[in-house]
Amino acid sequence: MAVILDGNALAANIKQKIKADLEGLGIVPGLAVVIVGDDAASHVYVNHKKKDCAQCGIKSETFELPADTGQDKLMELIHELNSRDDIHGILVQLPLPKGYDEQAVIQAISPKKDVDAFHMENIGRVLDGNFTFAPCTPYGVMRLLEHHGIDPAGKHCVVVGRSNIVGKPMAMLLLHKHATVTICHSRTKDLAEMTRKADILVAAVGKIGLITADMVKPGAVVIDVAINRGDDGKLYGDVDYAPVAEIASYITPVPGGVGPMTRAILMENTIIAAKMAMGK
Ligand code: GUN
Repeated sequence: MAVILDGNALAANIKQKIKADLEGLGIVPGLAVVIVGDDAASHVYVNHKKKDCAQCGIKSETFELPADTGQDKLMELIHELNSRDDIHGILVQLPLPKGYDEQAVIQAISPKKDVDAFHMENIGRVLDGNFTFAPCTPYGVMRLLEHHGIDPAGKHCVVVGRSNIVGKPMAMLLLHKHATVTICHSRTKDLAEMTRKADILVAAVGKIGLITADMVKPGAVVIDVAINRGDDGKLYGDVDYAPVAEIASYITPVPGGVGPMTRAILMENTIIAAKMAMGK
């Protein structure tokens, strides 16, 4: 039976440390959270982030804009937030509604305030390995592995999914830790053949039941990044949890695995940004 990689516990630990650190320094970082439109899941995520900020001693300011706000107004807001001294981090919740140029918005965020690490400058730094901010979800996975003494060096890591937010940066971060990395995606010919070779398997697709037990090598570490809502209203990852937990050595639950880690790293990135801005 696999050991559960408890993201809630580690995230709580990280947030406590942040709170103590901020109290010691006597600073209150500011995070602007921008959400456009009424996507229900995005609003849930944003509310979680606001709660995390309150727990850490970070001042969050939420901008809830209607879907018809328009690109120009959104860009204006980004420019205003870039220039505000009391805002150290800017997060635009993705996806934006149809009709927006998402890349233009992301690239307009000052790289120094880009706590998601989605700006080209920060992506480049992640590729290079010498980064200030790493994208929250993949870096949260790295921290979860590290906390449990799981060293990717020399291991075969298979990442399923090639998004800019998770799959691609995940592969880079694992590579920096000396893993052999395979990235699989929708055009991969025999997915099961690939995933069975994984010592560490990261699923980041968004498809319930994608990774079944026959696709997992016994003893593998299984990381489930996805958050899917089932027809029953419950949350599921990509991994067929119960049968895979029987054979894996470690596994992340959904919910309570990677999700809370993503948000804990967002908090960390925000204090990194604030400290840089304040010269601390
Ligand atoms: N949508 C899904 N994940 C993320 C994330 O990590 N950051 C932002 N801004 N939007 C998201």
